[in-house]
Amino acid sequence: MRKLPQGLKLGVATASFQIEGAWNTADKTPHIWDTMCHDHPEYIKDKTNADDACKSFEFYERDIEMLKFLGVEFYRFSISWPRILPTGYANKISETGYQYYNNLINKLLANNIEPVVTIYHWDLPQNLQDLGGWANPLIVDWFGDYAKVLYKLFGDRVKSWITINEPKQFGVFGYGMERFAPRINAAGIGEYLATKNIVLAHARAWHIYDEEFRNTQKGECGITIATDFRGAVSDSPEDIEAGLDAIEFEVGLHSHPIFSSKGGFPDRVVRRVAAKSAEQGFPRSRLPEFTAEEIEYAKGTSDFYGFNHYSTRYYTRSTYTPGSQPIPSYADDLGADFNYLDYEPGLLPHVTVIPPGIRKALKWVKDNCNNPPIFITENGFGTIGGGLRDPERISYYRKYLDNILDAIEEDGCNVVKYTAWSLMDNFEWDSGLSAKFGLFQVDFDDENKKRTARTSALWYKNLIATRTLDSNKTSIPELEEHVF
Ligand code: NOJ
Repeated sequence: MRKLPQGLKLGVATASFQIEGAWNTADKTPHIWDTMCHDHPEYIKDKTNADDACKSFEFYERDIEMLKFLGVEFYRFSISWPRILPTGYANKISETGYQYYNNLINKLLANNIEPVVTIYHWDLPQNLQDLGGWANPLIVDWFGDYAKVLYKLFGDRVKSWITINEPKQFGVFGYGMERFAPRINAAGIGEYLATKNIVLAHARAWHIYDEEFRNTQKGECGITIATDFRGAVSDSPEDIEAGLDAIEFEVGLHSHPIFSSKGGFPDRVVRRVAAKSAEQGFPRSRLPEFTAEEIEYAKGTSDFYGFNHYSTRYYTRSTYTPGSQPIPSYADDLGADFNYLDYEPGLLPHVTVIPPGIRKALKWVKDNCNNPPIFITENGFGTIGGGLRDPERISYYRKYLDNILDAIEEDGCNVVKYTAWSLMDNFEWDSGLSAKFGLFQVDFDDENKKRTARTSALWYKNLIATRTLDSNKTSIPELEEHVF
C-alpha cells in the first residue's frame, strides 16, 4: 500500500469529437474528422463514425454525475473549434456552442470539479484544412485568434488551459502518413511543416495568455506532448544511438523548441534530416528551420509539461532496411526498427504494458525539459471489446501509478496532476467505437448511450477516496451496478 503524495490531483479526461456527437447541430460546421469519417468510412477500422458518439452534447449532465461518483478533482475536456467558431475564424461566435461549454463549465464548478480545457484536440475546421490546415503558416494567427476567444469567454472560470494535444499524432499521422485526418501523406515534408507551425501556434496562444490574460485571470497554460518512452534494445553503442534518436524524433521534436534552454529542433533530428535530405538530392533540409526570432518566441512557453503516456518501445538499427519505409519519410529519417521488450501483450498495439517505461519517460522530461511541473494529462488502457469486469485495466493503472510514485519519490520528478484516460468509452479515432478506454462502458447501440461503471471505475473511485495505491494487490472490486 502506498500513500499518494499530498497535492497530487486526480482527474479524468475526454475530448470533444470523441464524446460529443451533435456533429451538425445548430451552426456547427464540419471538421477534418467529420469529413474523413463521412467520405471514407473504410479509413476507420470498424467503419463507425462519431456523429453520435456518447451524445455528451445532449447528456453532459450525466457525465458530470459520473465525475461526481468518481470524486475527481478535475475534468479535462476539449472544446470543438468549429462548434464555437463556425467559420473557423474569430469573426463569429456560435451562441449554441458558447452556451454548451458555458453550462458545462458552470456545472462542473458548481460541483467542485475544476475544468481543465484543451483548446485543440484534433478537430480542425474543414475550411481551414482546405487552405492547408496545419501546413499553412497562417494557422498561427487562426489558432491564436481562436484561443483568445476562449480566454475571453471562459478564462474568468477556467484556470488551466492546454493549447494543443499531442502534436506528433496529428502532425505526423495527418500530414506525413495516411493514418489520421486529413491524411495528406506528404511524407518527409508535410509532417515537418505542420510540426513547425504547431509549435509556433502553441507559442502564440501562450503569449496571448501571458500578455493579455494572466494578470487578471491568474491561470496556467501549457502544451500536452505524447511522451511514450523510447529506448534502445541493447547496450550496443549503435542501439543506444538509435534509442536516443528515437526519443528525439518522437518527443524532442515537439518538446525541445518549447522546454529546452537552447530552443529550436533537437540537434539529432536536425542532423539526420539534413543528411538524408542531402543524400536524396534536396537542395535544403526537409526540416524547416526556425529563425532566431522564432526560437526565442517559442522557448519557455509552457507553464507545465502536459504528459500523455501509454507505452514504450525499444529501438535498433541493426535490422533496419532502407526501403522498408517510404523514402523520404519521418520513419526513414529516424531509420530504426522497434521492438517491445519485457512486455505483457496489450490488447491494442499502442497500449502494450511496460510499466517501468512511464518512470523513464518522467525522468527524461525532468532531465531534458528543465525539470518542469509535470501534468500527466492522459494515461490509460485500451481493449477491443467491452465488458464490465476489467482486471487488465486495473492492473495497468496499479502498475503505472506505482512507477509514477517511484518517479516522484526516488527520481524527484515534479508530478502535479494525474489524469486517467478515459472517463468513458468513446470514438477512438481510426479504431472507431470498438476500442474501449473507459472507466465507464458506453452502450453505443442504445439511443441514450447508457453508461455503466466498470470495475476500474470502482477501483479509481476508491483510489481517489483513500489516496492509497494498493500496488501489492491483484484482486478487483466486486462489481456493483452503477448506471448513468
Ligand atoms: C491520446 C489521445 O489524446 C486520445 O484522444 C486517445 O483517445 C488516446 N490517446 C488513446 O489512444
